[in-house]
Amino acid sequence: MKRKIGIIGYGWVAGANHRSSYALSKDAEIVAVCDIKESARKKAQQDFGLSDECLFEDYKALIDSGLCDMVDICTPNSLHCEQAKYALNAGLAVSMEKPAGVNSREVEEVRALAEEKGLPVFICFTWRHMPTTRFLKDVIDSGAVGKVYHCYIKCIKESGLWEGRRLEWRFDEKYAGTGVLCDLGSHMIDFLGWMNERIVGLSANRGTFIKERQKLDSDEWAPVTTDDYANILADLSSGATANIELSRCAKTEDQLVEFIIYGEKGYIRFCNYVGEGLEICYGDKETIAKGKVRVATPEKYGTPGEIYQSQSFIDMANGKTDNFTSTIDDGLEAQLVIDAVILADQEKRYVTVDEIRRKLK
Ligand SMILES: NC(=O)c1ccc[n+]([C@@H]2O[C@H](COP(=O)([O-])OP(=O)(O)OC[C@H]3O[C@@H](n4cnc5c(N)ncnc54)[C@H](O)[C@@H]3O)[C@@H](O)[C@H]2O)c1
Repeated sequence: MKRKIGIIGYGWVAGANHRSSYALSKDAEIVAVCDIKESARKKAQQDFGLSDECLFEDYKALIDSGLCDMVDICTPNSLHCEQAKYALNAGLAVSMEKPAGVNSREVEEVRALAEEKGLPVFICFTWRHMPTTRFLKDVIDSGAVGKVYHCYIKCIKESGLWEGRRLEWRFDEKYAGTGVLCDLGSHMIDFLGWMNERIVGLSANRGTFIKERQKLDSDEWAPVTTDDYANILADLSSGATANIELSRCAKTEDQLVEFIIYGEKGYIRFCNYVGEGLEICYGDKETIAKGKVRVATPEKYGTPGEIYQSQSFIDMANGKTDNFTSTIDDGLEAQLVIDAVILADQEKRYVTVDEIRRKLK
């Protein structure tokens, strides 16, 4: 039987990534959509052929309608936890966009409630759900590069420099929490943990280059209150180190996501804009001497360009998890690191993730 999904927040990510990802699954159907904007509701109605009774302005009404048994939360960051808690209390399985919330305390509340109710909460760490990153995960798990020493991660964009970009919710800490730190950083922090390299302590800086933007609804200018760059130097649970560079003010190839893992036997590199596959250079002396090679992503990981995130959510709700599933525990781990970065930057000192974790008790 197909699972019945209600989407809350039908903006960019829901209309693009989520819509196409659900289209890959035979196990679910979108039966209801909620958005505070009429234009978004109308778009959803067209995209999924929904009747007027299946469109909602208030997320509580969607959850209470009895139409769906799972909700997919795609609203601005500060709303995720409140909406997830309401859905869990109504007995629904939940998928939440990343970051799970705006601080680790509220994310821990969702985690604890999900545990109490025995319901699944999935977090959309999308980079876990693409063919080449899944291939990378399996190669790393196989121990191909041996003991890991360094992880160099870059996630940089120029989207903060687009001419005329206004003061959207992403630039307001009240709705976003932080800027690139939680927007791009939550993905990269999770990616690292997923590669078995959990951050245990760090120093960091972050800041805002573009300090003012024009408001959405008037010609008035107002301050940007979220960061547009962040740099993290981290110690990892394995004893390795990581450098994570995040920016939306770097004029570069469209959106550069580069992940290089250096181990005792060589290195492996994932980079999103050079096409599918991985760059590898590891093995014995002779192999390394031949230089880097590109290996194609095997077909078993799926079609290049597709995102298998929605199927992973449905599988989790059906009790089936695997190496790729991203859960509220992963969302909390990423949030703890984000909170550690905020504190490290504020107090200009080294912060352990356990220091943040202890504050939750
Ligand atoms: N996983 C990814 O790769 C990825 C990519 C982009 C965005 N995101 C995340 O997805 C979320 C949404 O981002 P977006 O880019 O789609 O933003 P967006 O502004 O395009 O969409 C948000 C939508 O939520 C609606 N909304 C706001 N308040 C609401 C409420 N109370 N009830 C119902 N709907 C409400 C808005 O009207 C809007 O249509 C964010 O948390 C963001 O971090 C994740």
